[in-house]
Amino acid sequence: MNKYIINGGKPLYGEIEISGAKNAAVAILPAALLINGKCTIENLPNISDVKISCDILSKLGAKIEWINNNTITIDSSSVTEFKAPVDMTSKFRASYYLIGALLSRCKNVEVGLPGGCNLGARPIDQHIKGFEALGATVNVSNGKIQASAKNLQGTSIYLDMVSVGATINIMLASVLANGTTTIDNAAKEPHIVDVANFLNTMGADIRGAGTDVIKINGVKELKGNTSYSIVPDQIEAGTFMLAAIASKGDIIIKNCISEHLDCLTAKIIEMGGHVEEDGDQIHVWADSRPNKANIKTLPYPGFPTDLQPQIGVALSIANGTSIINESIWESRFQYTNELNKMGAKISPQGKTAIFEGVEKLSGAPVYATDLRAGAALIIAGIIAEGTTELYNLSHIDRGYENIEEKFRKLGANITRVIEED
Ligand code: EPU
Repeated sequence: MNKYIINGGKPLYGEIEISGAKNAAVAILPAALLINGKCTIENLPNISDVKISCDILSKLGAKIEWINNNTITIDSSSVTEFKAPVDMTSKFRASYYLIGALLSRCKNVEVGLPGGCNLGARPIDQHIKGFEALGATVNVSNGKIQASAKNLQGTSIYLDMVSVGATINIMLASVLANGTTTIDNAAKEPHIVDVANFLNTMGADIRGAGTDVIKINGVKELKGNTSYSIVPDQIEAGTFMLAAIASKGDIIIKNCISEHLDCLTAKIIEMGGHVEEDGDQIHVWADSRPNKANIKTLPYPGFPTDLQPQIGVALSIANGTSIINESIWESRFQYTNELNKMGAKISPQGKTAIFEGVEKLSGAPVYATDLRAGAALIIAGIIAEGTTELYNLSHIDRGYENIEEKFRKLGANITRVIEED
């Protein structure tokens, strides 16, 4: 089993560059199936979720060419296959976007139920409600989802809860539908806007992405023949902002959009840290232990659940007692057991966890329980005294490009050890 060995106790200093957004990339790749031609995608994060998405697209008949580490061309003009290999789709959550994309492209789709991080129940009833409203028949059985439609007809869809996945999936399914589709109570995350911008660049007519009402006027076809650059990953940027605060360091984070991180910036200032925004870079530093703070995770523009474990590490060493309320995922406090092995004093109870700040953490063997927990435990290892061994790196590889090199560039002593099983 692979592991990181982290010798901690030193603040992080220096500059790093943020990669393209994972959660935009894993939607834009299936969205490329809608194009009757070729497109170029730039600033694509080179992570395992992207590699598996590309492999699935190839199996479906798309021609993929890597121009460099972060740029590909996709030619979907000859895609007719609508069955995605179950063993591949079950490896990651975002495979659910193949349902909307293939339904749109082929009027028929069969995929395995999506896998991904174990964050508790992850239903897709709102996605299915949207497909059915557009005229599809959907059947879930034997670990697979099948959907088909003679015609997809634009309609009004009200989401019962704000869902990133359902918003994007309904957008994908309705881009080529007859007439206009309206999504009410839509999610507003930056990656929703990015997927809409990508589709519009390729010839779609989507309006209102980034607000809670999105209108999709169906078009006959998407022609492509153009390039699109993926938005910077705000969760990766936020991870490094929190690493600066937790380690009492000083980091300049380049290639990011500071407005996407307003809620985190406000929390960091409340915690006694400093943030200076300058164009596409954010300078973050701290000269003392963080102050306590209370957090409630919410859909964008609220505090993102995907930064909850990372801020949890900073609060574990804060001056005073903090409370985190997790309102999106029921099992997102699994990392707190691992942090407690490093000397933290965290009591999770259902959707709430109480963080009694300790002066320092100490190195220990710990396990990444999911992607963001993995990033949080790297930060914990960096700020802890002594040596941390962090296992289950495949979770981290799914969503962070070159994370250990980026942390090493900031002065962290982190090494990946590849062990035979
Ligand atoms: N929900 C339903 N029914 C649905 C859809 C969602 O009940 O049909 C519930 C979920 O159970 C959850 C809430 O609604 O409680 C929000 O779920 P959402 O659909 O927004 O999440 P998602 O699309 O499955 C994406 C990200 C997650 C991120 C969440 C919330 C991708 C591939 N995943 O998941 O990212 O936590 O939005 O922002 O975009 C991560 O990157 O580490 C990650 C887990």
